[in-house]
Amino acid sequence: MSNQLEGKKIKVGVLGATGTVGQRFITLLSEHPFFVLHAFGASARSAGKTYAKAVNWKQTTPIPAGAREMLVYECTPDKFADCAIVFSGLDADAAGDIEAAFRDAELVVFSNAKNYRRDPLVPLIVPLVNASHLSIVHKQRLQHNLKKGYIVTNANCSTTAFVVPLSALEKAFGPIETCMVTTMQAISGAGYPGVASLDIMDNIVPYISGEEEKIEWETLKILGGITEEDDGSQSFEMHSKTPLRVSASCNRVPVIDGHTECVSIRFHKRPPPSPQQVREAMVAYTPDVQTIGCPSAPRQTIFVHEEPDRPQPRLDRYFQNGAGVSVGRVRQCPVLDIKFVVLANNVSIGAATSSIINAEAAVLKGFVDI
Ligand SMILES: NC(=O)c1ccc[n+]([C@@H]2O[C@H](COP(=O)([O-])OP(=O)(O)OC[C@H]3O[C@@H](n4cnc5c(N)ncnc54)[C@H](OP(=O)(O)O)[C@@H]3O)[C@@H](O)[C@H]2O)c1
Repeated sequence: MSNQLEGKKIKVGVLGATGTVGQRFITLLSEHPFFVLHAFGASARSAGKTYAKAVNWKQTTPIPAGAREMLVYECTPDKFADCAIVFSGLDADAAGDIEAAFRDAELVVFSNAKNYRRDPLVPLIVPLVNASHLSIVHKQRLQHNLKKGYIVTNANCSTTAFVVPLSALEKAFGPIETCMVTTMQAISGAGYPGVASLDIMDNIVPYISGEEEKIEWETLKILGGITEEDDGSQSFEMHSKTPLRVSASCNRVPVIDGHTECVSIRFHKRPPPSPQQVREAMVAYTPDVQTIGCPSAPRQTIFVHEEPDRPQPRLDRYFQNGAGVSVGRVRQCPVLDIKFVVLANNVSIGAATSSIINAEAAVLKGFVDI
């Protein structure tokens, strides 16, 4: 951990603390080296109860002792005024107004909801890829007339999984031109209670509302750079200098946690790299958040399996506490250039862990007053 944070305790709040992502936040933050759980928010249904009474706990470890008796509040900024950072696992129907009210009250919000991902002033950050996009919050503060408050979002859980290997390959071999991705997404991605058991047992549902559009758009914002205007202001480049075409097909499968995705890509570079060069580039990939010492970043960002039948959700989703991604079956694609399989834990690096690493990076890079 960086010296400046040695012994520091930074108070944080969790909105949507009772939900699937919220529970993962509580589990991870209760053991964090410098973030300390300070305030919980959820809907009026939960407000006024202790956390243990309000929550329908579905984690495999018990509710952390320090969280059990904490009171759950309605999501109003006054109850979170002492928090340096607020994490949001709010349902999208509620997140829009609540997160804006928190930002306007000069709070720093790290959100999992979709509401602000397309906002041209809000960074959409997969921490293992584009933590450098944090710099746009200066413009966000300026436009909203704020000194401290801002919103940072992380990506849809299915986008997060495959942009990590794509980023490693663009770093090593230059732009990717075309990407086809077919997802096999876990049930927990839909929150609790999620998809009805009668719809998902013994079945595959070949449609997840809005998911394909999210993947196809979010990938461009995440993998694209940031351009600097003549007046010094920044904007998202959306991968427009070297256009990237993404086509996604999304399926819900009877797996509890862990999204698996089959990916085929074509590089701009001719001849393209070989499967072995691709494997080596993925193993060598070291994003910023690892170098600057974010404590929740995985030690190995991309684990590349050599076994022909891996990764598998049941075997690989908790590797490194769900913070990295697992890749396997890297091979030549007879239509594009290279194809592979990637697996990511949708509730960890696909949601809560991403927000936590984003917040760690913001603290370490000086974007949070502590
Ligand atoms: N699950 C995943 O893998 C995943 C991955 C990436 C992103 N996301 C996104 O993360 C967010 C949370 O997802 P989830 O799966 O955790 O959903 P969830 O299990 O349905 O939890 C939703 C949370 O929002 C709270 N809430 C609902 N309506 C509210 C209101 N009007 N005011 C205040 N709080 C309200 C709920 O509180 P009560 O318990 O009091 O109702 C609960 O704490 C969503 O935006 C989702 O799209 C989820």
